[in-house]
Amino acid sequence: MSATADSSAIESVLQEDRSFEPPAEFAAQARVQAQQFWDMTEAAKADPEQFWGELAERELHWFQPWEKVLDWNLPFAKWFVGGKLNLSYNCLDRHLDSPRRNKAALIWEGEPGDSRTLTYAQLHREVCQFANALKSLGVQKGDRVGIYLPMIPEAAIAMLACARIGAAHSVIFGGFSAEALRDRLNDAEAKAVITADGGFRKDKIVSLKPQVDLALADGKAPSVESVLVVRRTQQAIEMVQGRDHWWHELQPQMSADCPAEVMDSEDLLFILYTSGTTGTPKGVVHTTGGYNLYTHMTTQWVFDLKETDVYWCTADVGWITGHSYIVYGPLSNGATSVMFEGAPRPSKPGALWEVVEKYGVNIFYTAPTAIRTFIKAGEDIPKQYNLSSLRLLGTVGEPINPDVWMWYRRVIGGDRCPIVDTWWQTETGGIAITTLPGAAASKPGAAGFPLPGIQTDIVDRAGNSVPANRGGLLAIRAPWPGMLRNVYGDPERFRRTYFGTIEGVYFAGDGARKDEEGYHWIMGRVDDVINVSGHRLGTMEVESALVSHPAVAEAAVVGRPDDLKGEAIAAFVTLEGTQQGSNSLADELKQHVVKEIGAIARPSEIHFTEALPKTRSGKIMRRLLRNLAAGEAIAGDTSTLEDRSVLESLRLS
Ligand code: WTA
Repeated sequence: MSATADSSAIESVLQEDRSFEPPAEFAAQARVQAQQFWDMTEAAKADPEQFWGELAERELHWFQPWEKVLDWNLPFAKWFVGGKLNLSYNCLDRHLDSPRRNKAALIWEGEPGDSRTLTYAQLHREVCQFANALKSLGVQKGDRVGIYLPMIPEAAIAMLACARIGAAHSVIFGGFSAEALRDRLNDAEAKAVITADGGFRKDKIVSLKPQVDLALADGKAPSVESVLVVRRTQQAIEMVQGRDHWWHELQPQMSADCPAEVMDSEDLLFILYTSGTTGTPKGVVHTTGGYNLYTHMTTQWVFDLKETDVYWCTADVGWITGHSYIVYGPLSNGATSVMFEGAPRPSKPGALWEVVEKYGVNIFYTAPTAIRTFIKAGEDIPKQYNLSSLRLLGTVGEPINPDVWMWYRRVIGGDRCPIVDTWWQTETGGIAITTLPGAAASKPGAAGFPLPGIQTDIVDRAGNSVPANRGGLLAIRAPWPGMLRNVYGDPERFRRTYFGTIEGVYFAGDGARKDEEGYHWIMGRVDDVINVSGHRLGTMEVESALVSHPAVAEAAVVGRPDDLKGEAIAAFVTLEGTQQGSNSLADELKQHVVKEIGAIARPSEIHFTEALPKTRSGKIMRRLLRNLAAGEAIAGDTSTLEDRSVLESLRLS
């Protein structure tokens, strides 16, 4: 069968009850083997404080020990209370007195073909200089710093430099628009922004600094005092006197000595904005000690990290996956982490496999949406490369269909590599559910078991556990070190959003079922969050962007299934006055959303309609719109619909 055959043909020969034991050789050498996994799970359940306390003592460097492992005042958790440490120290300094000193920390492959390897000693040096540059711009412990960079080493350097001086970073994905950037800078009251002239994205140069200029224009982001600019694309940009500074001009003046600030375990480490169901994106708050330990342990367990491994996570540092599994988790473990600026595309379909071959990558972690693109390009592409160095594969970001999983295993993994399907969220800080590759069999399409210390449950709305194989809400019943601590500046929203749907239990929007063996099968979001190519978008955000266009009266946005992206955005729009919908207006509206949020939020389709289906109390019935967008029959009850003729006209449009 050709790899480009449509997925329904592949699916028909597959059974979802398949299961793949870890290969014997892999299991024998795994860092966590089956018995250990179940023992750890038991130990963590029996005495979580002892379990995490022992690991924290053994695995991290502390300037001062903690007094208490956990202080849980629902929904507020404090881990390693009173403990002092520094994440940048744990990622860098502590590796310098060992043979890791001259080991590659970051291997970076640039889009135009340039590359750079930074050893731990070199990375430490650059981070110290960068940290001193930030200090010279007046950035201090406790300040917030926006990072708006392409996938270049300076992204990791900037993050580590912030952590080093105790300034919290807020990384904003380089694909976000100036408006989205401004909102995030303002919410965090960022004192400085780190950016680049531009970045390479596929065959294009995208400008970044001009977006920062727009975001800061007319005093609209008043907290920002300075902008530090990395030179990447060499395009001409304007520098504002007194505000903007080139990194390459500051660097030579900066000392490579910058002691790591002594941070409290619960000091703010970073804010990362993520979409929710209501209002503006939420600033998810992570703090120092728990996040360091959780990303450290999960990287070690899930990726079976060995000293000589070359590890590669293809995410962008603008998302949590990049934070936890390109930068902090791998570096805290002293691993070699690959960072890639490029992306596969028709003109370079083998871009990723070229990198695997060039660096002998052993562990490869990507998203189902990327794998679907590989399948579409055909298996002849990866076959042209030597992928025999790979020993472990991972996926994250969205449910993976069993046929895509099987293709990944066979074509990329040569039928020999275990696959870890990792479920987690910006809010969980690190991986929460998966099958540890040497400890448990994996089933295509199932994420697997909760990691030690994660108390999952599948519940109904009242919080009661549902029986095996029954769908329900995926909840977590006890605190864990990597959990978010707050929504920045809005503790009430934090409580309501995460502990309010099921009173007193963590819930962040996914449905799941557990089979009789305890494997978790994630069913996707059950709220109004759309997962486009593994990126979370709130329907509200896209709707707000649409209604900010003068032609639009009302908008309702839903996700519909899409072969490549997982979900695509479908928008239903009513227009002001007597205006008529047209293709050119549809294009204009799509472009408007790109301007307001960024290209990831561009609707795939816009349906103009006279009215939106609403309940008598005025709520838009998205369920009906989802059915319409997917080309399905209208399912379920429509009796609460206020005006049934709306449905008829929508069907015809
Ligand atoms: C989805 C990304 C199924 C899920 C790390 C979650 C997944 C959201 C998986 C979080 C998976 C993530 N299987 N669904 N293995 N991993 N998701 O915050 O809906 O960008 O709630 O974090 O992605 O997205 P976020």
